[in-house]
Amino acid sequence: MVDDVSIDPWSSNQSTDYARIIEQFGLESVDYSLLPNPHMLHRRGIVFAHRDLNLVLDAHYSGKPFGVLTGLMPSGRMHLGHKMVIDQVKWFQEQGADVTIAVADLEAHATRGLSLEDCRRVAIEEYVANYAALGLDVDNTNIYFQSTRPVVQRLGFTLGKRTNLSEFEAIYGFEGGTNLAHVQAPLVQAGDILHPQLDEYGGLRPIVVPVGVDQDPHLRLTRGLAAKTNWFNVSQRKSGGLVIGLSVQDENSLALGIGKDGRVDRVARQSVFDKLSNILDKLGFSDYRANPKHGSIEIPGATSRDRDLIRPKLLKLERSLGGLGLLQPSSTYHQFAIGMTGDKMSSSRPETTIFLTEDISLMEKKVKSSFSGGQPTLEEHRRLGGNPDVDVAFQYLKYFFETDDNALSEIESGYRSGEILTGQMKQICIEKATEYLSELNEMRDQTSHIVSDFLAADSKS
Ligand code: TRP
Repeated sequence: MVDDVSIDPWSSNQSTDYARIIEQFGLESVDYSLLPNPHMLHRRGIVFAHRDLNLVLDAHYSGKPFGVLTGLMPSGRMHLGHKMVIDQVKWFQEQGADVTIAVADLEAHATRGLSLEDCRRVAIEEYVANYAALGLDVDNTNIYFQSTRPVVQRLGFTLGKRTNLSEFEAIYGFEGGTNLAHVQAPLVQAGDILHPQLDEYGGLRPIVVPVGVDQDPHLRLTRGLAAKTNWFNVSQRKSGGLVIGLSVQDENSLALGIGKDGRVDRVARQSVFDKLSNILDKLGFSDYRANPKHGSIEIPGATSRDRDLIRPKLLKLERSLGGLGLLQPSSTYHQFAIGMTGDKMSSSRPETTIFLTEDISLMEKKVKSSFSGGQPTLEEHRRLGGNPDVDVAFQYLKYFFETDDNALSEIESGYRSGEILTGQMKQICIEKATEYLSELNEMRDQTSHIVSDFLAADSKS
């Protein structure tokens, strides 16, 4: 469709029509009143959408384990856009999540031509050093390299079987000339996202991936891949309630009671159904109709909330029978701060962002020459007011530097009314940014001795 919004993880052209994005990609809006200790990024509507965040919140509120995962591209320098993701990771960690961070060194090696040694150095000096300074809890954070965690690569490879070039074309717009590194990288990334659920990496639990909305294609791919491996599906019944269905595949046909002749082996099938019935009995369902021959169980009285209770039990059963038992990852989506020049923020164009190790004087220059929402003349500004929605200095206070909501809204209304001038807005931003960068610098010094402790056992040199 011509007027579809496009989101593309590799494009520099991003739609900011967030309501359309929610609708078109089937995301849900974030209601921050449901969140424990909402972060300023939630209160300000910057983290605006999610998929399956309720699984994570349920785990949090019932004291069960859950995890958060992100990845870093070890090229270039860490900037404010990267910091925003780590702020969210830290918030999840404070709510009880364990933290896994993938260093996408295979991806950077294949798509950006960096050596693995360079990737390692950049990851540690530029990113992990800042994660430590930003206050991630070292005791609960595991950073690993794609290149040294075979299970991630193996999972990526195995999952490749569940997709094809047409799907990549549909999701990413790939064509005949697309470099296959762009096919491999999302598969390895699916391995990144899904492997923390494996028994050796913490076991079955919800894992949430906070991303910019441009990364949703990766999440859609990964969620689809996970679902396709599942041995049992739970879906809504047309006439109400839920239905559990077997998903018979080459790998599981014997276990799910298909004989060598391709027919239903009644004894084997009944044993699977006994286990399924046992799960439903334990969950307190009494009214369900099992149809072993057909491979389904109808539960007319079950609600969509019951689905969240049933699914993990089915994944556990799948694992006990020899399957992967993968839960689809949850995700949250944030809006983008505008680049300092008024268009997109990008690490390859230093004038569009502030790096976490930026010199104060350089930061000052960037803010002073940043795109402004002020009026051309003082007289007009006093009369018409400025536009904070496009004003970089204000937007950076909102996204990064002014943590006090009341102070922020006073600045906003002062600007709109014309009372605060453009130069003053920039000065406020510079003061706050100076404070921020100086404190971070101080924290980098104080935490430099624990940087290597953030690396997982398989990723220490
Ligand atoms: N591809 C991501 C980037 O370009 C990095 C990444 C690798 C990642 N694995 C991930 C991000 C898993 C989120 C989750 O920045």
